[in-house]
Amino acid sequence: MSFETLRWRAGRLELLDQRWLPARVEFVACATAREVADAIRAMVIRGAPAIGCAAACGIALEATRLRDAPPAVFHSRMEQAFEALAAARPTAVNLFWSLGRMRDTLKAAGQAQPADVAAQLLEEAQRIVAADIAANRALGAHGAALLADRARVFTHCNAGALATAGHGTALGVVRSAVAAGKRVSVIVDETRPFLQGARLTAWELQQDGIPVTLVTDGMCGHLMSRGEIDAVIVGADRIAANGDVANKIGTYMIAVLARRHGIPFYVAAPLSTIDAALDNGGAIPIEERGASEVRGHAGLEWAPAGVAVRNPVFDITPAELVTALVTEKGVVRAPDRGKIAALLM
Ligand code: MRU
Repeated sequence: MSFETLRWRAGRLELLDQRWLPARVEFVACATAREVADAIRAMVIRGAPAIGCAAACGIALEATRLRDAPPAVFHSRMEQAFEALAAARPTAVNLFWSLGRMRDTLKAAGQAQPADVAAQLLEEAQRIVAADIAANRALGAHGAALLADRARVFTHCNAGALATAGHGTALGVVRSAVAAGKRVSVIVDETRPFLQGARLTAWELQQDGIPVTLVTDGMCGHLMSRGEIDAVIVGADRIAANGDVANKIGTYMIAVLARRHGIPFYVAAPLSTIDAALDNGGAIPIEERGASEVRGHAGLEWAPAGVAVRNPVFDITPAELVTALVTEKGVVRAPDRGKIAALLM
């Protein structure tokens, strides 16, 4: 990769600041778990697997900072760190999955000295980051087989290296297909209001020299009706036990259009995105963000002052609209409750 989404530098966690890409390529340095939580909430780092990796690193960062503290202080501050990170954003389950793994590590360390616990937490965070990249490479290889040479792939939001520890999920499939010699091109929509498509996916693919065309959010139906799209691939923030998928607002609309036009709709996600505890998509919490994101962008407001605004930033695509789920364990066609349960065994 020509860029890093998150990295350790001089004992601090540096996050590539996704609020200003591509205009500015800058890192935000975090020294505490609270700073990592604030960065996640502010969208410095975003994308389900990337949020999970950042949270795990945030716990490791806090433990390292407190490694010389008395055990009672260490444990009470760690509790606060877990709480702050868990409250950062509600929809992507990877955040809670990785915090669960870090909590298990903390518990397993028992009464060990804070310095030893901190070392174990750092190792676990590094394993979570490495496993995310490995999962993306594996799912990328499985998904690449679904794409024909010269496939024109439509994607939404950013499910790339920027949204993960590396390689990406939906864009991981594209990268793996390109690496296998397929001449794949991508069409991405802007993805209002945060513009993950226009700012992040377009930039990320340009960095790799993968052909990408930017369209606005209302254009995909037209392109589908003209036969200009061969497949849709998106990522996911949480997948319920029945296969319903929470992903960036607008995904549901694209899935309905894909079905209308007989175009395959693929969801690429690691197993850490599956929440077997939730029966169906209706139970997935949907984050609502501030009105300013819809009223304008980067300080410029174009909506009339005082207009009512809604800003749900995810929606639910029913499992019946998903042609296949692409995971590190393989491709699951027409995912349903039974197939999802089998995948997790
Ligand atoms: O609000 P965001 O940018 O965190 O939303 C991101 C998405 O919806 C992605 O599609 C999803 O997290 C998958 S990323 C591999």
